[in-house]
Amino acid sequence: MALSVVILAAGQGQRMHSALPKVLHTLAGKPLLGHVIDASQHLTAEPPIVVYGFQGELLRAAFTTSTVQWVEQASALGTGHAVLQTIDYYPDDNQVLILYGDVPCISLTTLEKFIAAVPKDSLGIITAVLPDPTGFGRIMRDDTQQITRIVEEKDADEKQKQINEINSGIYLIPARYLKTWLPQIKNNNAQQEFYLTDIISLAKENNIAIHSFQADPVEEILGVNNREQLAMLERYFQQRLAAQLLQQGVTLKDPARFDVRGELTVGQDVTIDVNCIFVGKVHLSDFTTVGANCFLRDVYIGRGVDIKPNTILEEATIGDQCSLGPFARVRPGTVLQTAVHIGNFVEVKNSFIDVQSKVNHLSYIGDCDMGKKVNIGAGTITCNYDGVNKHRTTIKDNVFVGSDSQLVAPVTIAEGATIGAGSTITRNAPAHQLTLTRSPQKNIANWKKPEKKEG
Ligand code: UD1
Ligand code: CA
Repeated sequence: MALSVVILAAGQGQRMHSALPKVLHTLAGKPLLGHVIDASQHLTAEPPIVVYGFQGELLRAAFTTSTVQWVEQASALGTGHAVLQTIDYYPDDNQVLILYGDVPCISLTTLEKFIAAVPKDSLGIITAVLPDPTGFGRIMRDDTQQITRIVEEKDADEKQKQINEINSGIYLIPARYLKTWLPQIKNNNAQQEFYLTDIISLAKENNIAIHSFQADPVEEILGVNNREQLAMLERYFQQRLAAQLLQQGVTLKDPARFDVRGELTVGQDVTIDVNCIFVGKVHLSDFTTVGANCFLRDVYIGRGVDIKPNTILEEATIGDQCSLGPFARVRPGTVLQTAVHIGNFVEVKNSFIDVQSKVNHLSYIGDCDMGKKVNIGAGTITCNYDGVNKHRTTIKDNVFVGSDSQLVAPVTIAEGATIGAGSTITRNAPAHQLTLTRSPQKNIANWKKPEKKEG
């Protein structure tokens, strides 16, 4: 039996107070709906069927890389009405898994277990027992503990409201039952909506077995209705990721102060201090340490790299044994070979720096090709921009650049050259010579400091 996945995402999400459709708000850097689409793509080769209501263009534009079957629900008349829009998109003998675009933490493992647990000709439903079930549909069971129906909060009497077992809204059901039952659902309830939950009582009436499955942990089935819930699920998701990394052998100084918005892969004995953010694809190789308050986006970090606090690295490749920061900024297009040192208040952009070179203090290295064992003095600037075009600076092996120098590109500093401190270099500097543009020092004898005039 093939599996089709239907993802409901037509709700407006008014409680987000946002111009953006709710399911485009992000959790761990990915739209809520993206999490659900990704999970579904691991379950079945069939594209997920996403029911959308408004701002369809925005939704489509956000998922151009995923194969999705978009289905419009012109007006939000209820969850039953939403699924009804999809019945022409799967054959009768498929099974249909119903998920929600605003329930982002549902894990692949849970879904696989759920699907495996539900006998083929029955209706499966994920339920959860919550200390505070307010707002959810309640699960009604008979004396033999069989599920009989679901009562929504707004339709529940006081006694029913005491029930703690709630409906997650996630179901697995043979398509042919959906196709027969959905058109029979009526909207004679407190909200005058077509409730998908009515399929439970229809299954009961038709003697179709109902198989329930407990969500564990319950956060997996919680939805996002407002920004408070979004923040809560973000923390849950991050803690889940942190737990996985701890299990792999990463040291996290505080798993509660750690954020991954993308994919973080790690080698052995990696240590991460507090308040670090990893965005996009980040790899940290063996024995690397990341100090407090670092931001790393789309970077590959080699072995034994020491990233000191408050360092920002984006779209760069960092070789083994490098030392970065504190307060370093490495920008896109940068490649550092082995054992390069980038120190405090140094910005490097679109540059290649070869082994054992050092830029330790207060410098800007942009559009530069730097050789091996170069030493760049404090306050050195590659003047790469003439106001219109960018030019490259070439610095060969074993160059020493004195402090507070400007290298005006395009310019080459040949091998072994020394640049005297305070120079503005506008022409190529020859190999193994001292080049300096500094004006000679003058000493004025008998010079008097100005004095304040009386009166
Ligand atoms: C629904 C369930 C409730 C369950 C709860 C779990 C029904 C009638 N009730 O209630 O038993 O405990 O979820 O969170 O199903 N949607 C559409 N089109 C619509 C209406 C809703 O696509 O016309 C989508 C929403 O975008 C949302 C989901 O369906 O993703 C759930 O809708 P919502 O209105 O939040 O249902 P609840 O009242 O929370
Ligand atoms: Ca909801």
